[in-house]
Amino acid sequence: MQDHLPEKLPEQLKEKIQQLEQEASQELSSQSFDEQRLEDFRIRYLGRQGKLTQILKDIGALNPHDRPALGQLANTVKVSLTQKVSELAGALKKTQREKTTQETQIDATLPGRPLPRGTLHPLLKTMEDIVALFKCYGFQCAEGPEIESDYYNFEALNIPKNHPARDMQDTFYISEDVVLRTHTSPVQIRVMEKFKPPLRIIVPGTVYRHDADTSHSPMFHQVEGLLVDEKVSFAHLKGILTYFVHELFSKDVKVRFRPSYFPFTEPSAELDISCIFCMGKGCRVCKQSGWLEVAGCGMVHPAVFKAVKYDTEKLSGFAFGMGVERLTMLRYHIDDIRLFYDNDLRFLEQFQ
Ligand code: FA5
Ligand code: MG
Repeated sequence: MQDHLPEKLPEQLKEKIQQLEQEASQELSSQSFDEQRLEDFRIRYLGRQGKLTQILKDIGALNPHDRPALGQLANTVKVSLTQKVSELAGALKKTQREKTTQETQIDATLPGRPLPRGTLHPLLKTMEDIVALFKCYGFQCAEGPEIESDYYNFEALNIPKNHPARDMQDTFYISEDVVLRTHTSPVQIRVMEKFKPPLRIIVPGTVYRHDADTSHSPMFHQVEGLLVDEKVSFAHLKGILTYFVHELFSKDVKVRFRPSYFPFTEPSAELDISCIFCMGKGCRVCKQSGWLEVAGCGMVHPAVFKAVKYDTEKLSGFAFGMGVERLTMLRYHIDDIRLFYDNDLRFLEQFQ
């Protein structure tokens, strides 16, 4: 019995080594390794309790004359497995390194990520469009203060204290002589005081009145126009405002100059356009009239020229003032003025 065992043991061990080698190389070729799996594999075969290590221990217990051959075989397998494991580990490290470089590298050929872009507020857009249109006719942009003296806002514009025209504008008074300007017309005076004729100015700006409903706001915007030269007639005013309406809306829109009253112009008119909702047929927006009022205008009153010491004999001029909110509401079919000031992105983003 004792003789028999040592006889068989070397054979069994040899088979075991060959089997183990086959098993290990199969596992190596069929599995996709990550670092953890490879380490598990190494421990399972080559670790201190590993399968191959166990076999090497068994070989140590064999007859001395059986040891060398089997020991050599087992060692060859060990060396080859160890080499394969370290090769795989190296390859894994390399791909890992490549991945990190790729992740941190900038690929300049990729299309850019779009950034959300802001847009002009619709009121500002309308103001800029109006100013651009008049610039084509040689008008220059001018501005003035929003806190204005009673003199520029009223007095110099032929609206003396106690004049009933002051009732037309619900004024915010800061003191007896200082107001929040109720229109952009005071800039007419400021510019004429400073510059000699001829002149053409276009004045966008914020104005204030004690007024609030679906079409009136306590703070709103106007664009003022003023042209002073020799031999300026009402025909020039009609011509340029007609051009303006056709450019801002469309050539199909009709214009009408309806007699009106402003203390600083004579004659004065309201500029009406044919209703762009019903094409002049009559609807709720135009109150069945077929017309919409968009601006006040007229020939500069001699009293205004006198206030700025312009020669009333030689010079004539025209002026106009339009409500920006009104025009913007018509342009984009907006029915409540308060939408402009709510700062609701769902509303504002429609004007991209
Ligand atoms: C004026 O303010 C004159 N300065 C216009 C003018 C200038 C006439 C030069 C002649 C020569 P009016 O008060 O009508 O006019 O106002 C002009 C426009 O401002 C109105 O047609 C209207 O569109 C707009 N507007 C007036 N009040 C408000 C308000 N509370 N909210 C929004 N828009 C308003
Ligand atoms: Mg008016």
